[in-house]
Amino acid sequence: MNREDFAMLTQNIIYLDNGATTFKPKVLSESIASYYNQYCANAHRGDYDLSLKVDEMYEHTRQLVQEWIHAKHTEEIIFTSGATDSLNKIIFGYFRYYLHEGDEVLLTKSEHASNVLPWFELADDMGLVIRYIELDEEKKVTLENVERAITPRTKVISIAHITNVVGDVRPIKEINQLAHQKGILVLVDGAQSVPHIPVDVQDLDIDFLAFSAHKMYGPTGVGVLYGKKELLNQIHPIEFGGGMNTSFSSDGMRIYHEIPYLLEPGTQNVADVIGFGCVLSYLQNIGMQKMNAYEQELRAYAIRKMKNIPNILLYNENSDSGIITFNIKDVFAQDLAIYLNKYHICVRAGNHCAKILKDELGIKNTCRVSFALYNTKEEIDRLVDVLSNPNLKEEII
Ligand code: ALA
Repeated sequence: MNREDFAMLTQNIIYLDNGATTFKPKVLSESIASYYNQYCANAHRGDYDLSLKVDEMYEHTRQLVQEWIHAKHTEEIIFTSGATDSLNKIIFGYFRYYLHEGDEVLLTKSEHASNVLPWFELADDMGLVIRYIELDEEKKVTLENVERAITPRTKVISIAHITNVVGDVRPIKEINQLAHQKGILVLVDGAQSVPHIPVDVQDLDIDFLAFSAHKMYGPTGVGVLYGKKELLNQIHPIEFGGGMNTSFSSDGMRIYHEIPYLLEPGTQNVADVIGFGCVLSYLQNIGMQKMNAYEQELRAYAIRKMKNIPNILLYNENSDSGIITFNIKDVFAQDLAIYLNKYHICVRAGNHCAKILKDELGIKNTCRVSFALYNTKEEIDRLVDVLSNPNLKEEII
């Protein structure tokens, strides 16, 4: 789909590492070049036309993000440098003040480092208790297991919408319903979901959501922190500087802006935020339903084909996202990725930043393919052909 829009696809490569980052449509580099060459100025600081145009473009991206995730208010959208930054801002800017010693934080053992390590740090600082929702046999989260893990001390559930290794789509709406009935807040890591499935924060009743632009065809260095307005109004900035204050004086008096500017201190990544807006318009033209249906089709096709590869170990055959995790029996995952690279096929190998999951899976490293809208069935056929080589092990060794 839309392959001609992606300059990277003119190279002789099969790119199946879209969970790490996606290729970018030409509209992104055009938009960035246009900002730097035609209307370069800072945002929210100038009283001249050039700067006002930048303000307009920057704020237009905020509106497009609002539409993309169906947020109720524009000011619920905060630009950050990526999902990791968003998660840290929520955990250290909101939960540090909301939680108390002995409170329990529920995670799962398949979370990405960015949704684990900030919690470990905060738990050490504040005496919080980290507990884990048990995963089922397929390493998925069930509502029953969420319910079982909740105790009277549970105050927050922090969970990926789609995990980056197992690729399971968590029942976020139901988890939120259950959590909210018990007065528990839910922080959703949307890094792997917002680019691939429809996410309606109002319908799903999401309290906080974090995601990155670069995993959804956008630029690196831009992320989004979404929070319900009433929650964001209680968040503390963890960075201070220009643009987030209205006044301060020598005696230490300071008055800060309200959200979203409260949480966007210093000169922002203006060029890339505007570029992200162009990418969102591009994606809107294609439509999420169409992208999602196509990726589902690719996944079903890949699973059907990959099942026949000799000695394949598929770890998430029944997941619903475009993430497929596998090994070839007795072949070290990274050796396999290097072997695929000889055929210009890019996959990710290792523990994929989900370092607790390896103990659950009982296996240290895996290979992962992850699809985007421009992948094709022919690329999957090529992957399957290369992996089906009867001399594969000998050639690797
Ligand atoms: N979090 C990214 C991945 O899963 C880097 O590959």
